Amino acid sequence: MEPQKIDIKLLETTIKKELADARETSDFEAILKKYLEKETGVLSKILRGLKDLSEEERKTIGPKANELNSLIRSEVFKASQSKSEDNSSDWEDITEPSQELEVGHLHPIALVLKDVSRIFGGMGFEIALGSEIENDWYNFDALNIPKDHPARDMWDTFWLKEFRTEAKDKLLLRTHTSPVQIHYMQNQKPPLRVIVPGRVFRHEMTDASHEFDFFQIEGLMVDQNVSVANFSAILNEFFNQFFGKEVKMKLRPSFFPFTEPSFEVDISCINCDGQGCPACKQTGWMELMGAGMVHPNVFKSAGIDSKKYQGFAFGIGLDRLAMLKYKINDIRLFKGCDLRFLKQF
Ligand code: DAH
Repeated sequence: MEPQKIDIKLLETTIKKELADARETSDFEAILKKYLEKETGVLSKILRGLKDLSEEERKTIGPKANELNSLIRSEVFKASQSKSEDNSSDWEDITEPSQELEVGHLHPIALVLKDVSRIFGGMGFEIALGSEIENDWYNFDALNIPKDHPARDMWDTFWLKEFRTEAKDKLLLRTHTSPVQIHYMQNQKPPLRVIVPGRVFRHEMTDASHEFDFFQIEGLMVDQNVSVANFSAILNEFFNQFFGKEVKMKLRPSFFPFTEPSFEVDISCINCDGQGCPACKQTGWMELMGAGMVHPNVFKSAGIDSKKYQGFAFGIGLDRLAMLKYKINDIRLFKGCDLRFLKQF
């Protein structure tokens, strides 16, 4: 091609039009071939001939020719890219690992509740539920905690403003699951074996080990000849199964108005198996729950003959069990809705 005959303006218009009209991959390939094939391409020849042009021509033609070169290449490249994206929807690579689906899962408290229910269920205990709003007779009086008795101070109570009309009993948010013992005994005849999971409320400041609402599991067994030995055997079996290892258990004398005798139950530290570690403050033991033999006054409130029947009762913090099992050091995490925490279960 004669260098002086190059009409670079016309060439530019032509190329741009051809690019704009191109639809198929083959159109783009044809443009590439026509203008940029090494030997015969129109632009390739111009570029090759630049050195033979006059200074003047080189200045006008050179930059334009380079620009058109880049334009063609980038348009052809873009077309091939979008083509391969289009293609991807036409077929499926079944060997490609699929995207992981987000599936819902149980909250740690629910997991622990499931475990506890399964283990006690295996030992013949049924599950009962009660109301979160109680009156003070069920929450206190019936459990041998009379009005104005100082023992009521053991439970800082959320009182409700409403009164129940018939009995004028004061309403409250239950401070423990123990009132369900009374409801249950009023409605069922011994022998009884029951656990009662549920939310309870305390008018307390929160910190790493206290919440103003948390979960308890109440347990009650009533029959003829039930003794502390039955209690120990059943609870020890529960702990062994729950923690998946041999757990030692010891009872310490304590006081609850609704049991006599009453005791605190300690288990060998599940962290260090009783060797002594920071979790058990080097004692080898962890305090876990309150329990005792059902007080005759409690049987009386529920209409059960305490001369004929005995029973044991206990109350465990579900949150506490979950914290021990999953090594969680702050009770507030359970209600925190922090997905980084919840997704671990
Ligand atoms: N209700 C007690 C509390 O919330 C726990 C408890 C202790 C329950 C001893 C019992 C028991 O049934 O026998 O602190």
